[in-house]
Amino acid sequence: MASQDKVAFITGANKGIGLETARGLGQLGITVVIGSRDEAKGRAAVEQLQAEGIKNVEAVRFDVTKPADYQAIARHLEDRYGKLDILVNNAGVMLDVVDMEGQGGFNTTSTVTPALLQKTFETNFFAVVALTQELLPLLRKSSAGRIVNLSSILASLTLHASPKSPIYGMKAFAYDASKTALNAFTVHLAQELHGTPIKVNSAHPGWVKTDMGGSGAPMEVSEGGKTSVLLATLPDDGPTGGFFHLGDTLPW
Ligand SMILES: NC(=O)c1ccc[n+]([C@@H]2O[C@H](COP(=O)([O-])OP(=O)(O)OC[C@H]3O[C@@H](n4cnc5c(N)ncnc54)[C@H](OP(=O)(O)O)[C@@H]3O)[C@@H](O)[C@H]2O)c1
Repeated sequence: MASQDKVAFITGANKGIGLETARGLGQLGITVVIGSRDEAKGRAAVEQLQAEGIKNVEAVRFDVTKPADYQAIARHLEDRYGKLDILVNNAGVMLDVVDMEGQGGFNTTSTVTPALLQKTFETNFFAVVALTQELLPLLRKSSAGRIVNLSSILASLTLHASPKSPIYGMKAFAYDASKTALNAFTVHLAQELHGTPIKVNSAHPGWVKTDMGGSGAPMEVSEGGKTSVLLATLPDDGPTGGFFHLGDTLPW
């Protein structure tokens, strides 16, 4: 299918990695629907991309924690485009950070509150499952459906369990566990959709200088959308049910 005929919906695309993904897909000629919980921020993102020459882009007010918004976006995509080719589940929160000014200290696993766990899972996991279920009928209408779940290297149980791994000391339990659960969703859904044209993969974008990643991150925001764009535009013989950073496979 030609890029010009594809439509993508990206959650939390008003800034950071989501906006960069919108830019990357827009530059390929794909029509991009930006989900933004703040209408003005969504409009600003659209104006920014249009000023850069990306014409087929619109913003829709969308909060991943509001189930009514799932039905509204499904209706909008159905009415306007009749299908969905690419869903990028990008919106996410990291609520564990307790020391933004210093080295970014995290809540410890033994003290993290059930409320923080619940709030984190609500956005990073439950919302993704529910939204994806709502949009699956539209993705099934595409000849090359692609679902990209924004995970993190911090989801990797293999790396967290290894004292030699670079992330061994980076234990933000609520965030990490929510992304591990998200990876489980990727694997389970990919198996269920095996034999259909839809591919489902988890992305680790890298450690990126965004509001979430912080200024100490090694990757520039301009690089941060690359893994999502790659997975959103996989060819028909590309992988499904995997966990990737750029072209590399990560351990679960
Ligand atoms: N940055 C990194 O180093 C890094 C590393 C690994 C994985 N990731 C993952 O990559 C994704 C994007 O992260 P980022 O670094 O770009 O973060 P960011 O700059 O903080 O942006 C997060 C985006 O998600 C949106 N969002 C949060 N809660 C939402 C909700 N309830 N409804 C709708 N939108 C919501 C935010 O909207 P508002 O502007 O309204 O807050 C914003 O657009 C996340 O899933 C994150 O976990 C990031």
